[in-house]
Amino acid sequence: MTRIAYVDGRYRRLDAPAVAAEDRGYQFGDGVYEMVKVIDGIPRDLDRHLARLARSLRELAIPAPTSPAVLQAIAREVIRRNPLRHATLYIQVTRGIAPRAHPFPASARPVLTVAVRRVAFPTAEERARGVAVALAPEIRWQRRDIKSINLLPNLLARQQALERGLREALFVEADGTITEATAANVFLVDARGVLRTHPADRRILGGITRQVVLELAERAGIPVDQRPFTVDELDAARELFLTGTTSLVLPVVRVEGRTIGAGIPGPITRLLGRLYAEHSGLGALAGDYAQVAPEPKS
Ligand SMILES: Cc1ncc(COP(=O)(O)O)c(C=O)c1O
Repeated sequence: MTRIAYVDGRYRRLDAPAVAAEDRGYQFGDGVYEMVKVIDGIPRDLDRHLARLARSLRELAIPAPTSPAVLQAIAREVIRRNPLRHATLYIQVTRGIAPRAHPFPASARPVLTVAVRRVAFPTAEERARGVAVALAPEIRWQRRDIKSINLLPNLLARQQALERGLREALFVEADGTITEATAANVFLVDARGVLRTHPADRRILGGITRQVVLELAERAGIPVDQRPFTVDELDAARELFLTGTTSLVLPVVRVEGRTIGAGIPGPITRLLGRLYAEHSGLGALAGDYAQVAPEPKS
């Protein structure tokens, strides 16, 4: 099926050439984006995503390309033209087209792209049994709170993990602090049963899934502490999981050589996995977070 995207004022085939050679997004990575889950035609948590987009734009002094109402109308139209049961809605804004030079151009108009793509959620097996992840040195810039299209360190760490047969990579600062994964936030249940995650400061992207999961945890009476944790703390951790728009709640049972807890997804991870699936209109997936037997030792 041909995908139709909105690119700079027009609906076009997603596979048709549309980017100007002097788009600053193309030349400098001078732009921001959002990735929204669309389930049964409904973009989920859209208001939260649009608020984060507005913030990212403000932080980089890129003018908003349209009003939120027009952006929502464009999103609805792109979703209508690409009927998919489960999809992602990709929204990108670059600073615009101008002769290549570092200073912000006085007259460039931001370029908006909106596209819908089929989504690959973690498999039922991954949700039920958990995944293994790598550790990677934190080499990104100091403003990870901005959802910028500059993702090279994320791509490199992810690729290296995949080549080692690992699902994701967790970024580690020089002092051992774990910030987040390459495309997801990370939560740990510590030895006291407290749910921990890095605070939403400039060192991580404040994930929308992270926000929702924190709210679900508080409502479920789970003690929460937004305090960073280190690699050393993984040894005593009971549970570990990732959160993201397309990762959902993804249990992690191994980090490099370490087994987390009992080596199977723990009860808090499974509860939050179910609650988040239901929150997202993915109730059918909730059962995948049921208790599983440990893998036999080989
Ligand atoms: C670096 C990074 N952290 C966290 C997330 C999770 O954010 P969200 O829950 O809004 O998808 C993402 C999502 O792409 C990401 O790229």
